[in-house]
Amino acid sequence: MELLGAASVVLLVCVLGLLSFTAWRGRAAKGKMPPGPAPLPVIGNLLQVKPKNMAKTLEKLSEEYGPVFTVQLGSDPVVVLHGRDAVKEALVDRADEFARRGTMPVGDRANNGLGIIFSNNKEWVDVRRFALTTLRNFGMGKRSIEERIMEEAEHLLEEINKTKGTPFDPTFLLSCCVSNVICAVVFGKRYDYKDNKFLGLMNNMNNIFEMMNSLWGQLYQMFSKILVYLPGPHNNIFDEFNALKAFVAEEMKTHQASLDPSSPQDFIDCFLIKMQEEKDQPNSSFHTENLITTTFDLFIAGTETTSTTIRYGLLLLLKHPRVQEKVQEEIDRVVGPSRRPCVADRSQLPYTDAVVHEIQRFIALVPLALPHTVAKDTPFRQYVIPKGTTIYPLLSSVLHDSKEFPNPLEFDPGHFLNENGTFKKSEFFMPFSAGKRICPGEGLARMEIFLVIATILQNFTLKPVVDSQELDVTPTLSGTGNVPPAYQLRALPRWEG
Ligand code: HEM
Ligand SMILES: *[C@@H]1O[C@H](CO)[C@@H](O)[C@H](O)[C@H]1NC(C)=O
Ligand SMILES: *[C@@H]1O[C@H](CO)[C@@H](O)[C@H](O)[C@H]1NC(C)=O
Ligand SMILES: *[C@@H]1O[C@H](CO)[C@@H](O)[C@H](O)[C@H]1NC(C)=O
Ligand SMILES: *[C@@H]1O[C@H](CO)[C@@H](O)[C@H](O)[C@H]1NC(C)=O
Repeated sequence: MELLGAASVVLLVCVLGLLSFTAWRGRAAKGKMPPGPAPLPVIGNLLQVKPKNMAKTLEKLSEEYGPVFTVQLGSDPVVVLHGRDAVKEALVDRADEFARRGTMPVGDRANNGLGIIFSNNKEWVDVRRFALTTLRNFGMGKRSIEERIMEEAEHLLEEINKTKGTPFDPTFLLSCCVSNVICAVVFGKRYDYKDNKFLGLMNNMNNIFEMMNSLWGQLYQMFSKILVYLPGPHNNIFDEFNALKAFVAEEMKTHQASLDPSSPQDFIDCFLIKMQEEKDQPNSSFHTENLITTTFDLFIAGTETTSTTIRYGLLLLLKHPRVQEKVQEEIDRVVGPSRRPCVADRSQLPYTDAVVHEIQRFIALVPLALPHTVAKDTPFRQYVIPKGTTIYPLLSSVLHDSKEFPNPLEFDPGHFLNENGTFKKSEFFMPFSAGKRICPGEGLARMEIFLVIATILQNFTLKPVVDSQELDVTPTLSGTGNVPPAYQLRALPRWEG
């Protein structure tokens, strides 16, 4: 099976390589696409762009080809935007032209043009707007969601306390905690951390994130046109998607049965009501399939990104014990031990705020954002980007800009602090992307990361199980997302109680 898989990849790489070389010659003749390395006949630019380390290798190429360049990934050219100026010029200054989602074979196959993340046109406009309004009504960015998070953080503390100072891997505790916040919004309930069905879903999501960022996932992004017909591990990812969708479909049925249109309890209720309102419109975006896909999008995007950020953040705090101490000193001084940190404390906790920003900056969780594209041939600077070309806004190049952040590859909360210790805002802080596709969960995610980390450090001191010097904080996988290395930690209570 493995051999068969390998043989099919070799074959496919050959065929696509030949196709892509011919295409590149054609493009070069027109002379209007951004410059880039010549693709080899068989492998395109796979010598220059390592699928195992996409962002880093793309950043390197920009040293030679400038802030706007083209690489051949698989059968298609990809235009890369490097640095804040190019990213902002496209996504913000020309927001309408650059808001279109580019092809992403895994997501396209899983979502079929529905939902928010992988949709375009009327579907995307309708559903994104609806989701933003509904999430706002359920308190996203407002007080009630803050209370949810604080309550959930309390459950997390209890679970951490149960480890009694023995080493544990925080992955699933953090997934459960973060996921329960979005579950409360979309499903109207939270799940127990020991609920096997819930843990199964967390496992599905974790596997999806890892698979998308594995070598196979990256090859699928490049060579899907042929891989889709071949056996190999890339097919397993769709089983994980289906398991999650089946769960959402089940939830939809229970909601349908108990719906009270006069008092919607959660996102699914609101969607069902909207479906009812538009049932006579033939082109309505609000139908059963879209309810499932949209809810699924929020569920998965709302869980994996945020919990991975916190998990990566705790690893960085283990690596930098002095930073952890300073956060604790600040929390002790401003909040004290008798109440929980809340959002209103943030402005009084500049160091903690800087640490939280620095975590997101340093890890650049989604280094290439998600692919964008243009709906028609689009002049950009001295080039023309052809209709449908995949565009990667290289968020990592903005987050790791060496003029804005003097030691871009070091974890240093000083990047977000003024000389006098106040919080220093940066226009280069773009982990959620920018423009019309900007992450709609930004407000929720930032609140969660801040509150969960502050609450954990208020009660516990985190210790590594090896010497902190020896901890490796480079991502083990780096594709669409950066996956932190697996690790264990010990949580020692700071107060008896
Ligand atoms: C640390 C946490 C998070 C990070 C770093 C993050 C980052 C991103 C990025 C980079 C994008 C792509 C933007 C683009 O296309 O240019 C995105 C899209 C998206 N995110 Fe997040 N996100 C996070 C948390 C969340 C949460 C909590 C939710 C759920 C409420 C969410 C829901 C979405 C959705 C639905 C999209 C698709 C938006 C669209 O295509 O219009 N994200 N996110
Ligand atoms: C923490 O765990 C100890 C037992 O190890 C228990 O006595 C204590 O009540 C727990 N604290 C909380 C707040 O759950
Ligand atoms: C529905 O969609 C079709 C094809 O996209 C279009 O021709 C028609 O005008 C639309 N109808 C309404 C009511 O929007
Ligand atoms: C956290 O610390 C507070 C004191 O600030 C204490 O009352 C509470 O029981 C602690 N919770 C856990 C889970 O240890
Ligand atoms: C701290 O420094 C920043 C910029 O360096 C300045 O804008 C701010 O007013 C200062 N704040 C205080 C309290 O000195």
